[in-house]
Amino acid sequence: MVKSRIAGIGKYLPKNVVSNKDLTKYMETNDEWIQERTGIKERRYADRTGETTTTMAVEAATVAIERAGLTPQDIDFIVFATLSPDYYFPGCGVLVQRAMKMKEIGALDVRNQCSGFIYALSVADQFIKTGMYKNILVIGSEKHSFGLDFSTRGRNVSVIFGDGAGAVVLQATNEGGSGILSTHLHSDGESAEILAMYNPGTHANHWGQYASFDKAEIGEMFMSHSMIDEAQNFPFMDGPSVFKKAVVKFPEVILESLTTNHLKPGDLNLLIPHQANLRIAQFVQQKLGLRDDQVYNNIQQYGNTTAASVPIALCEAWEKGLIEKGDLVCLAAFGSGFTWASALLRW
Ligand code: UT7
Repeated sequence: MVKSRIAGIGKYLPKNVVSNKDLTKYMETNDEWIQERTGIKERRYADRTGETTTTMAVEAATVAIERAGLTPQDIDFIVFATLSPDYYFPGCGVLVQRAMKMKEIGALDVRNQCSGFIYALSVADQFIKTGMYKNILVIGSEKHSFGLDFSTRGRNVSVIFGDGAGAVVLQATNEGGSGILSTHLHSDGESAEILAMYNPGTHANHWGQYASFDKAEIGEMFMSHSMIDEAQNFPFMDGPSVFKKAVVKFPEVILESLTTNHLKPGDLNLLIPHQANLRIAQFVQQKLGLRDDQVYNNIQQYGNTTAASVPIALCEAWEKGLIEKGDLVCLAAFGSGFTWASALLRW
């Protein structure tokens, strides 16, 4: 049976390093609080003059395609995960297609926040298993720095996030025993509003509050001062509630991937958890009884890069020689939605 394997992987991190101390220029915070609660020491911010979610994605994709021994013309399909697209629409997938001068292939954007890359990988995996495509570019990229509240009001969110991109080329293979073994996707919209951006732009999005379009006053439908005063144009997070759910759902979805394949935590060579908070990753490690060398974290250097965090960490671990052929690798994520997901693969 045809399976999909990662044939090439790349990452891109902006050069601009922003330390915890740098953030104290804008808000009341301190290095001790940030490190103790999140593990983060520094993050990267995109260059304000030209770097976007798409340009960073193109950098990562260029490396991934080259490492797969392909050219952009060989790519059959793009799946792009981000919550910080260059435009409200169109999505970043088409911008990558244009920038990389690819053929007129399909391009799909996935909006699943922290679990976006694993959802994107799962979508690509299905297209490959059905035989529809052979080489799919899967990207996670985020430019958070342009949309954070850098006043003290937004500090619980803003200190966490960073910019960056990761990409893989997912390729059809007949080689038995290697590739993606299974993917597992979940959601529960019950708490959608506890990690969300309510109004990203000029329009109020609360159609539900009006019985019908006719009943809404036109003035109420556009961005108002009160929406700005309420910070509705910035991400909102009830951090402790997200934390409590994450430490339950992370182990659950990792175990689901292992039991589906008749494997145990001890069989894992490397777990790459979404880099949300070092304390969450440490809790998951302890809960599953994993050794330090079985879990890869780099949130200390890059912060939480949402859809980009899993491919960046996977790429970095691979570049350091921590993943070898035949290794069992689990990718797992939890975040806004809530959505959560895992992918188990044999490298
Ligand atoms: O990737 C998407 C999914 N996201 C997550 O998984 C995030 C999950 N949640 C978390 O990581 C943690 O909840 C946070 C890191 C966001 C916050 O840590 P916490 O230990 O839950 O802190 P808290 O929100 O309960 O806040 C504790 C105190 C508050 O002060 P008071 O009310 O106790 O006086 C906050 O105002 O810390 C204060 N605080 C800060 N102080 C200094 C919040 N942010 C900051 C800050 N610097 N940046």
